[in-house]
Amino acid sequence: MKSVTALSVAPEIYPLIKTGGLADVAGALPGALAAEHVALRTLCPGYRPVLAALKKAEAVAHFDDLFGGPARLLAARAAGLDLFALDAPHLYDRDGGPYGGHDGRDFPDNALRFAALAKVGALLGQGLVEGFAPQVVHAHDWQAGLTAAYLHYSGKPRPGAVMTAHNLAFQGQFPAEIFGALGLPPQAFSIEGVEYYGGVGFLKAGLQLSDRITTVSPTYAQEIQQGHSGMGLDGLLRARAEQLAGVLNGIDVEVWNPETDPMIVAPFTRKKIAARAENKKALQARMGLAHAPDRLLVGVVSRLSWQKGLDLLLACLPFFEEHNAQLVLLGTGDPALEAAFQEAAQLHPGRIGVHFSYDERLAHLIQAGADAILIPSRFEPCGLTQLCAMRYGAVPVAARVGGLADTIIDANEMALQAKCATGLQFAPVTAEALAGALRRCAALHARKTAWKNIQFNGLKTDVSWTNPARHYAEIYREVAPA
Ligand code: ADP
Ligand code: GLC
Repeated sequence: MKSVTALSVAPEIYPLIKTGGLADVAGALPGALAAEHVALRTLCPGYRPVLAALKKAEAVAHFDDLFGGPARLLAARAAGLDLFALDAPHLYDRDGGPYGGHDGRDFPDNALRFAALAKVGALLGQGLVEGFAPQVVHAHDWQAGLTAAYLHYSGKPRPGAVMTAHNLAFQGQFPAEIFGALGLPPQAFSIEGVEYYGGVGFLKAGLQLSDRITTVSPTYAQEIQQGHSGMGLDGLLRARAEQLAGVLNGIDVEVWNPETDPMIVAPFTRKKIAARAENKKALQARMGLAHAPDRLLVGVVSRLSWQKGLDLLLACLPFFEEHNAQLVLLGTGDPALEAAFQEAAQLHPGRIGVHFSYDERLAHLIQAGADAILIPSRFEPCGLTQLCAMRYGAVPVAARVGGLADTIIDANEMALQAKCATGLQFAPVTAEALAGALRRCAALHARKTAWKNIQFNGLKTDVSWTNPARHYAEIYREVAPA
């Protein structure tokens, strides 16, 4: 098999910087693709935590003025990754997260911060650094969306361009006034280029100008070609349907390995699943819940945003009392949701436990200790938590949308008889349907053999990157110039 050299352009990458699943994907792809003879290096912004993790970095390019200040491109290995980090202090050296300050607001210069990332991605794709000649540049999400535009309008030979949309809710839409600062030729401000509803659309540009578009599940790839799921981009996506593919995410099965996970209390295997009980006990203690080995314990690990549908769970709290069940929630985001769940925990001490932070260790313990993991998303491009749940013997209870629909086999009576169920799904995404799913979950949990079988099937499911990596490698080979 011919080997391929490729560059991934990503605004976050696990374990260096993460706000969501995109970081997990960007962090896992290089390792997974190596098995497919693809050498994938990643360009990411030189945020403080990224630069802090780099050892023995070498400056491989210098810019006197990169969108308003001097910058260096560093090449280094960190956390097993082959990285290029864009060290541009005027853009990335600041307090807060990757996209905004502690006040929760986006940085006002995000257009320039990510135009710079894309510009350098394009330059790298066209031979900026000696000895690195990628045949494919793979851009992730709106932050990398202009990469394809810089490649396209350079007028020079270019590598193949792949754009992955992880979530159409984030489009990088900016007013037309910023166009002049982007360094693109005037003709780029057109419907065939970066123009989008009168402004500049970073994701739109990437979707428009890349050779191939991928998104993170086959169902989401279909959904986004329709009306409101397309969030304004459905027309473009329908027009480019031939170039659009849904490639399911995997998870890093080394990071998520219940046999060796140092973040859980008791390791376990499919054959020794009883050991999960120790994790449940530890989780109940950690979250201030009553120790109750047999009570149904439902877990949530999620960003708290409209997408994730957790406001619907607030309407279902009577379920936990009626069924003597428990709830643990780990999440951050919307302050109103945090306040509402805080209040719920106060009203139901010993039954509902909440934790509002980003906590990797607790996320692992929840997956290892909860009986079920709830994911009531209104839309979900792929979702990783249901994959982690299956790998950890927790039963996912999820809305039937996007990647959740593709990765879970609902425990209806037929699937139970055929012994192939891996979780529970519900539709439509309403509080009533969610309450119904929770009741169904409680009933199944009481059927010990059926429940064990669902856990067992989840643990058997291949949630690794093996198949998705093969699919990406195929796409890379198709777009790589001969
Ligand atoms: P999204 O990217 O839309 O947030 P995904 O399901 O694809 O959703 O990925 C979310 C990732 O972030 C998972 O790896 C999940 O375990 C993790 N995660 C979400 N919230 C937290 C949190 N508060 N603490 C730790 N991990 C979290
Ligand atoms: C996005 C989506 C999520 C997906 C992740 C990684 O954040 O919301 O569904 O799993 O990207 O692709």
